[in-house]
Amino acid sequence: MALTPADGKATLSFSDGTPSLDLPLYKGSIGPDVIDIRALYGKTGKFTYDPGFLSTASCNSTITYIDGDKGELLYRGYPIQQLATQCDYLETCYLLLYGELPNASQKADFLGRVTSHTMVNEQMQFFLRGFRRDAHPMAVMTGLVGALSAFYPDSINLHDPAQREVSAIRLIAKMPTMVSMAYKYSVGQPYIYPRNELSYAGNFMRMMFATPCEDYKPNEVLVRAMDRIFILHADHEQNASTSTVRLCASSGTNPFAAIAAGVACLWGPAHGGANEACLNMLYDIQASGGVAKIGEFIAQVKDKNSNVKLMGFGHRVYKNYDPRAKLMRETCHEVLEALGLHDDPLFKLAMSLEKIALEDDYFVSRKLYPNVDYYSGIVQKAIGIPVPLFTAIFALARTVGWIAQLNEMIADAEYKIGRPRQLYVGSKHRDVKPIAKR
Ligand code: SDX
Repeated sequence: MALTPADGKATLSFSDGTPSLDLPLYKGSIGPDVIDIRALYGKTGKFTYDPGFLSTASCNSTITYIDGDKGELLYRGYPIQQLATQCDYLETCYLLLYGELPNASQKADFLGRVTSHTMVNEQMQFFLRGFRRDAHPMAVMTGLVGALSAFYPDSINLHDPAQREVSAIRLIAKMPTMVSMAYKYSVGQPYIYPRNELSYAGNFMRMMFATPCEDYKPNEVLVRAMDRIFILHADHEQNASTSTVRLCASSGTNPFAAIAAGVACLWGPAHGGANEACLNMLYDIQASGGVAKIGEFIAQVKDKNSNVKLMGFGHRVYKNYDPRAKLMRETCHEVLEALGLHDDPLFKLAMSLEKIALEDDYFVSRKLYPNVDYYSGIVQKAIGIPVPLFTAIFALARTVGWIAQLNEMIADAEYKIGRPRQLYVGSKHRDVKPIAKR
């Protein structure tokens, strides 16, 4: 969205004689102001320097707002707590895509459009067959999502709003089918086709856990929990995978390829892969002695040489409790109660570890709190999701956020291909010597 006339200015002065420069300053509707440095290089021959983008706004957006100090998360202005308790995932998808919550007829129409796209091309089974059965689900998902551009060539033109709309619906509709296919393939069971009469989350649970041998009736408590997990992961401002999708799409590539790039980035343990890493961390502590060994583990985390991190803790933006972690902990408790697992040792261990960490100055001084990944693994394990599939489910849920952010960028008349610069600290010009003289 083109920014309104400047709300003020920032004056840059230099010690090297470069003339000082006034730069426009813009205010958002909420949150930090930005200094527009687009003219900086042209006027001074200098770049800004911000590895990891700690102080850089890559765009302006109307989709998601995070206040890291307050621990606040809004999707299109609505608090995540209200969406997670009063809406379902498809309503949240509609909100993220179109900017408003749907009324009853809009919701029914959207559900109908998504439901009619849940099957994948039958040929995708043969694509899947090329993977080893023990391939990591995120390797499979990176391949399957990218392959959609080959199976659906009629909706790959990024600059055609109608084709972007079709590819958005296809992606949202087919992610559950593809994730469950990746799971069924890994356990050697037949794929389960989607059923149009089921809810989005209910359909996913059935495709995951049903077999052709008997009827499967999803447990409504688990279905609701799955739907809430989708809502909590749907979008999160300009995180690493969303920035990857934006940068990838800025080249004009097709929507499926851009979302596949987001899947690949989300896989990393510092990002979406943290839920899998967190559960494996809890398993390791449990195997080494459980609660009694928490002190030893925390000491390892504090030892910089150990390279051990408390997975599921810390966040680039949240310097307070991640509101999603609170909701995830509640969901965890509900699911464990519903399954009669209130004494689940892993949940108890996670709660003890959280309590001890939040009383330890190492974490308090660094403002390290549980993030969305800390409890999501425990609740997914309780639902019956295998650990390696956790991040694939994160990708399933985040697909709508990636699409909404991609659409917002493409619709912005000011957008250009992303092309950061650098501070070059390598060799100055030198000539090649013949090999005999090297
Ligand atoms: C997600 O960006 C998003 O919005 C992501 C996400 C989304 O919805 O898209 O919210 C999803 O990715 C959540 C984060 C999941 N990752 C983890 O749980 C992995 C563990 N967390 C860390 O790797 C880390 O906290 C990050 C990557 C999440 C954030 O890292 P930063 O902002 O770059 O902070 P940092 O690494 O510079 O850490 C600051 C200090 C360092 O100590 P000092 O050098 O100051 O002594 O805190 C320490 C770090 O060593 N630290 C941790 C820690 N996280 C940071 N120490 C122990 N355990 C941790 N988890």
